[in-house]
Amino acid sequence: MPTVAQSVDLLSSKSFADGHPLEQYRWLRENAPVYWHEEPDGPGFWAVTSHELVREAAKQPEVFSSAAGGIMINDFPPEELEFFRTMILVMDPPKHSFYRRLVGGLFTPKRAEKWRDSIGDTVRSILDEVCQQGECDLVEDIAGKLPSYVIAELLGIPRADGSRLYELTETMHSAPDTVSDEQRFGAMREITGFAAEVRARKLAEQSDDLASRLAVAEVDGRRLDEQEFASFFLLLVNAGGDTTRNLIGGATVSLLRRPELLERLRTDTEGLMPTAVEELLRFQSPVIYMRRTAVRDTTLGDTKIAAGDKMALYFGAANGDRDKFDRADELVLDRSPNDHMAFGGGGPHFCLGSNFGRIEISEMMGQLLTRLGDLELTGEPTWLASNFISGPTHVPVRFTPTKPIGH
Ligand code: HEM
Repeated sequence: MPTVAQSVDLLSSKSFADGHPLEQYRWLRENAPVYWHEEPDGPGFWAVTSHELVREAAKQPEVFSSAAGGIMINDFPPEELEFFRTMILVMDPPKHSFYRRLVGGLFTPKRAEKWRDSIGDTVRSILDEVCQQGECDLVEDIAGKLPSYVIAELLGIPRADGSRLYELTETMHSAPDTVSDEQRFGAMREITGFAAEVRARKLAEQSDDLASRLAVAEVDGRRLDEQEFASFFLLLVNAGGDTTRNLIGGATVSLLRRPELLERLRTDTEGLMPTAVEELLRFQSPVIYMRRTAVRDTTLGDTKIAAGDKMALYFGAANGDRDKFDRADELVLDRSPNDHMAFGGGGPHFCLGSNFGRIEISEMMGQLLTRLGDLELTGEPTWLASNFISGPTHVPVRFTPTKPIGH
């Protein structure tokens, strides 16, 4: 066990400048899996980094609340927090359970599976747009387009609108030291305004898309009102956008740096893809943390927690826990079982869109590796300046040009 404390700073986006700070995580898990982290402009928070304790906290929403203080470490002014609390991610049971029931049926594995062909077509058209160029930015031209096109398609809105919404979520997710609160809330308001228009349109003319179904979904005779619809819309666009993009961008970089694994996945795409998707999720962990707030005095592991204390559950740290995963630092494409936490700690907030995310990742990785067969990096990737979401912003690549496939 190390005797000298590793310098720990999980707030600075610099710590995440090349991906997760694996050395800091390791020191924390081994020495203080519930660690008191100072905060320059706040009271401080507990950083939870072991698999066991992240799970324990995530599964006790009655003690560790998402609504009390929101899901970001920095505290928002009361009126902003009130706004966030209209999203299921920032609710606690029983309110959370009601809303989750209202929409849960739209996100089951079976429902998601019905979209596989159409998601596959979207991937094909994205690759058709770049395949003749011979070089591109993997994030902007490929990985980033997929979630914005897919969410546009799921919601039944034009692709161009999906792309604009995606830009706005970028602003929302940037670290406080790179984007002002004003810019962040401005982006949020633009998305909610857009949602109100979409709801009105969908109520006037129903079709089979997610937005139409959300607009009329009912539990106990009650539907989502305009504000509730907007919050769901915002969350869907937000939660499914840069998470999926970062997974695809980051996963491809990891594979390009391990050519033998990339080759294995390329030659046995069908056989390996199901376990590879889970392992790439574990390895990349696009969501760095989610915050909870203790609503009463309690303990987590051996640590006493006081009512009102902030907790940050570090999913990427839990995903690297050697007590849980053999060869935790390695990418093992056929790892099974793989009890990773990239979609959350398994509590009530477990990612609603996980089934869609998995399909997007497997369709994109499968086609990318087979169609751009000799893909290679032409420069160093740059990473998102964020202490909340992890992934590359630019990944310059080249490949032998090929002809578009078309539909
Ligand atoms: C690689 C892709 C994705 C990752 C890594 C991811 C990760 C996460 C995580 C970590 C949470 C919070 C879990 C917790 O607090 O315990 C979450 C919640 C959520 N995600 Fe995802 N997500 C992804 C894709 C998607 C997609 C594609 C959608 C929508 C189509 C989506 C919609 C949501 C929603 C609505 C919630 C809130 C659920 C709730 O509070 O009940 N996510 N996701």
